Amino acid sequence: MQTPLCARLGLDVPIVQAPMAGGWTTPELVAAVCNAGGLGMLAAARLSLEQLRGQIDAVRRLTTRPFGVNFLLAAPGAAPADASGMQRVLDAGRAQRGLAPGSAALALPPSALAAQFELACDARVPVVGFAMGDPAPLVPRAQAAGAFVIAMATSVAEARRLEAGGVDAIVAQGSEAGGHRSCLEPPGDTAPPLIGTMALLPQVVDAVRVPVIATGGLMDGRGVLAALVLGAQAAQLGTRFLLALEAGTFPAYRQRLIEADETDTVVTRALTGWPARAVRNSVVRAVEAAGEPPLGWPYQALAAEDLYRAAIISGDADWAPLLAGQGLRLARGVSSAAEIVAALKAEIAAGAERLGAGFR
Ligand SMILES: Cc1cc2nc3c(=O)[nH]c(=O)nc-3n(C[C@H](O)[C@H](O)[C@H](O)COP(=O)(O)O)c2cc1C
Repeated sequence: MQTPLCARLGLDVPIVQAPMAGGWTTPELVAAVCNAGGLGMLAAARLSLEQLRGQIDAVRRLTTRPFGVNFLLAAPGAAPADASGMQRVLDAGRAQRGLAPGSAALALPPSALAAQFELACDARVPVVGFAMGDPAPLVPRAQAAGAFVIAMATSVAEARRLEAGGVDAIVAQGSEAGGHRSCLEPPGDTAPPLIGTMALLPQVVDAVRVPVIATGGLMDGRGVLAALVLGAQAAQLGTRFLLALEAGTFPAYRQRLIEADETDTVVTRALTGWPARAVRNSVVRAVEAAGEPPLGWPYQALAAEDLYRAAIISGDADWAPLLAGQGLRLARGVSSAAEIVAALKAEIAAGAERLGAGFR
């Protein structure tokens, strides 16, 4: 099961736990995946500098193995002049839980990204990852600090651009993937590339020389093995790890993941203003039926912040963002990260044996 990337990163299995912003990829989850022989990744987005420092320290207390920190690079677009139309749409959810109507004036807090990146470099985090943007200007600093740099692409052209920018490995994100489409430029009004993992992965593998990690809709060992057969050196799983015991996923979210099927997700701007794959729930339906476009990134998320927070605290999966990939029928239940990695290993081995037997 070892690939050259595994050897380079000191992994026992070609499994990467996707960084998932929102409080889901806890230090406990990251460390448990690392201790099981995979690569665990923290997500820096939406954390303060102090929170990220605390999470890095916590991972280091729980494991001596290599781990990663991931950054979302997408810069905010122009602030909306007036968010009141969208706030009236979101007020339907607020009314259900006694929240005050949303504010028309949205003020973005200052970005912690630059300071967080410096912190990760100073802390000599072994793997630094990027998504939703081109990290080229940051790559030399990260590599000089000893980091192995990975970045995510959704097309061959993006993968070539990342390679030219000096990254050490590329994550090829198929359209099945849960979460934001990791395009390098803001998609604007155009649809982002939506190329499935099966088609995207071998084309990226053929186009670049750096190792490729597959992501999107991979839920069990069969998916990981298929990715390896297509030339990936590891598979990055997100939704599957949302169900790990150590994940911060709130119970109603977990339950919805277990109940939902492959037809229940949609790529939508309704949640944050940037196209993201998520389970279609009340907030997605309300915003998509509103008759006006969602606010731009990240103002749509900012407008709904109080609503999302209240929904999560009260255990309501209808008015919170439920980012998830398309492999949902394979989300069978909750187990520890170690059990997930052990199951993946066994399934990869069983699949490889089946293939070997079939071809003899
Ligand atoms: C809840 C959630 C949050 C995510 N947040 C991030 C993130 O902060 N950074 C990142 O690089 N990718 C993020 N992703 C995308 C993952 O890296 C990965 O592409 C995706 O989970 C793969 O699809 P899968 O969920 O079907 O395994 C997120 C995905 C989900 C489901």
